[in-house]
This record gives sequence, structure tokens and C-alpha cells, in this order.
Amino acid sequence: MPFNTALTRALGIKVPVVQGGMQWVGYAELASAVSNAGGLGILTALTQPTPEDLRKEIRRCRRMTPNPFGVNLTLLPALVPPDYGAYAQVIIDEGIRIVETAGNSPGPVIKKLKAADCIVLHKCTTIRHAASAAKMGVDFLSIDGFECAGHVGEHDLTNFILLSRARQSLGVPFIASGGFADGHGLAAALSLGAEGINMGTRFMCTVEAPIHNNIKEAIVQAQETDTELVLRRWKNTSRLFANKVAKEAVKVERESKEGKFEEIAPFVSGKRGRQVFLNGDKDYGVWTAGQVIGLIHDIPTCDTLVKRIEREAIETMRKTSSLVTGEDAVPRPGGGAALGQNVNNPEAELYGVGKAKL
Ligand SMILES: Cc1cc2nc3c(=O)[nH]c(=O)nc-3n(C[C@H](O)[C@H](O)[C@H](O)COP(=O)(O)O)c2cc1C
Repeated sequence: MPFNTALTRALGIKVPVVQGGMQWVGYAELASAVSNAGGLGILTALTQPTPEDLRKEIRRCRRMTPNPFGVNLTLLPALVPPDYGAYAQVIIDEGIRIVETAGNSPGPVIKKLKAADCIVLHKCTTIRHAASAAKMGVDFLSIDGFECAGHVGEHDLTNFILLSRARQSLGVPFIASGGFADGHGLAAALSLGAEGINMGTRFMCTVEAPIHNNIKEAIVQAQETDTELVLRRWKNTSRLFANKVAKEAVKVERESKEGKFEEIAPFVSGKRGRQVFLNGDKDYGVWTAGQVIGLIHDIPTCDTLVKRIEREAIETMRKTSSLVTGEDAVPRPGGGAALGQNVNNPEAELYGVGKAKL
């Protein structure tokens, strides 16, 4: 077991990589594949129409992996909210030990889960929310940077700032979420003080993700600039794949004089978004994706992906530590590398970057 972090120890997993909850994606096929690969797979409770269906899905997942897996419970504002208490009760009754919570006013649900001795990972996009979740007794914070898919929050803080703020000011271990796709990212997150990473979009683009292959291909073709932020006007900003509908939604949002939610509602319909994953028409409705789409170039199995991340992270950390070669070898001004020679990134020389910086 090469990794030994607070996350791997607490969850009993081999690689500190979590597959975040994903509406209409987080079914047993994906969660079990991630857990079988040595990470933590997570079922998404609200993909199941009732708590009883969630019970069946948990049992199905258990038949597909002997390894630990978790359940995500997302609390979002709704005219008729789901019975969160009943979903939480099924999670507890089915012996799930690891729960990812997200969304608004999670206090009562976290209290219930902690009373049942669950390990709670709470996802948040601000340090203020993270600190209040820490007070509620969560075990890990999952810090979701502005790069992430879905609800990015209203402060637009990327992970470079958020993760260091988490390290400086939260007394609770945390994992890094948003913008991760490979082992370089995992190594960077560990360097910034995280105990592991959480990935959504990258896991959507795997063989086992139970969505239409056209959508996975659309992710492979996409660039990091191909996302849109919608619903900012209503302080419920979501990062979506920049398809025709999302672009139209942004236009309506910007141009509407009255700013009535009803004007944009047909464009951001969750029902049509769900159909996208089934019919493979990427423009049929809006769907969630993070800026990390620009870093995704293939559709591997979860096993291949998790093993690759593990290998790359170890190689990256070894390479980074080899840059420190002992007291005598610390470069002195005017000594060591020739002026203009970029020793850490030799490729930069090709473009003259090293010299230009001098
Ligand atoms: C298709 C999709 C659906 C998602 N649905 C949920 C959800 O229901 N609840 C939740 O907490 N997070 C949800 N997320 C966010 C992920 O759990 C994760 O935090 C996010 O994807 C991390 O950013 P990344 O995509 O850059 O890895 C979703 C993400 C995607 C891509």
C-alpha cells in the first residue's frame, strides 16, 4: 500500500482518490468499479426515486464489490424537497459507513449520520462553510474549487487559494475537489496539504460510467474553455458543459430585463439533462462538467485510470523530491545551471521561456 494518508487510513482504501456523487451517473456500475480499483466509489442517493430504491442500489453495489464504498446525499433547495431524513435512515440501516454530504443546511443530516458513527465527508466551496461543517463534527472536508463541475459557489475561488486556506485554517483533514484528472494533480493536492482528491468529470469519462458513449466522446473532444456558468443571477451558479442549450441559457440570463427564473427554467431542466446521458445527444439538455474536460483525452476503465493516477503521483513526488539534492547542491546565485537554462522544465527552453524570464 504505497499511500498512507488520513483518508486512506480512515476509509480503508488503497489510493486516495474519491469518486464524487454525480446525479444520473453515480450508480452501482461506477461506484463498484472505482472501489474495485482501490479508490472510493460513491453512489448518488438522489438518482434513486425513493429511499427504498436506494436500499436496493446499495445492496446491488455490495454484490459488485467487496471493498468499501460510500453514498452521496445532496441537499438542494427544491419546491418539494426529497425526504432527506428517510434517505439518511436507509444509508444507516444498510450499514454504509462513509457518506458524502453536500448542499444547503446539512446540520440535521450530518447530526443523524454522526450519531450512527458514519464517516462524513462534507463538500463545500468556501472556507466559511467548511468551518461551520467542521463544527458540526464532519470527519473530512471536500474542498470544491471554482474549476469544479456543478455548484461552484459565488466566490470564484480556485483551488490554489482554497486548499491553502483550508490547510492554514481548518482543524479538520480535507480532500481537494475540482480540476483533478491525473497523478500530477494528486501529487499537487498532497503537497498543498490535502489527504487525497475527489473527481467527478474524470470518472464520467470511463468505460464503467453508465452514460451514453457520445457524451464521453464529447468530453474527450472538449477544451478547458468549453464550460458555461449559469444561474449566477439567482446565486445558484452551476458549471455546465457549453452545449447549445447552456449557451442559450446564458444568453437569456444576461439579456433578460426582469430576471425571472421562469424565463430560464425550460433551458436548465434536469429532466432533459438526464435524457442526454441516455440518448447521447449532447445538445438535448444541460449537463454538468468541469474545466477539467480540457485534461481528459481518453476513456479508460476505472482500474486503468486509478492505477495510472497512482503511478503518476508516485513518479511526480519522486521527481519533485529529487530536485532537492542536499545542502551542498542547493543552487547558489551564479552557480549551477547556466543563466537562462530552465533546469526544472527543459522543454521551456525550446520556446525561449527560460531566457525570456531572465
Ligand atoms: C454529471 C455530474 C453530476 C454531479 N452531481 C452532483 C451531485 O448530485 N451532488 C454533488 O454533491 N456533487 C455533484 N457533482 C460534483 C462532483 O461530485 C464533484 O464535486 C465535481 O465533479 C468535482 O469537480 P471535477 O468535475 O472537476 O472533478 C456532479 C458532477 C458531475 C460531473
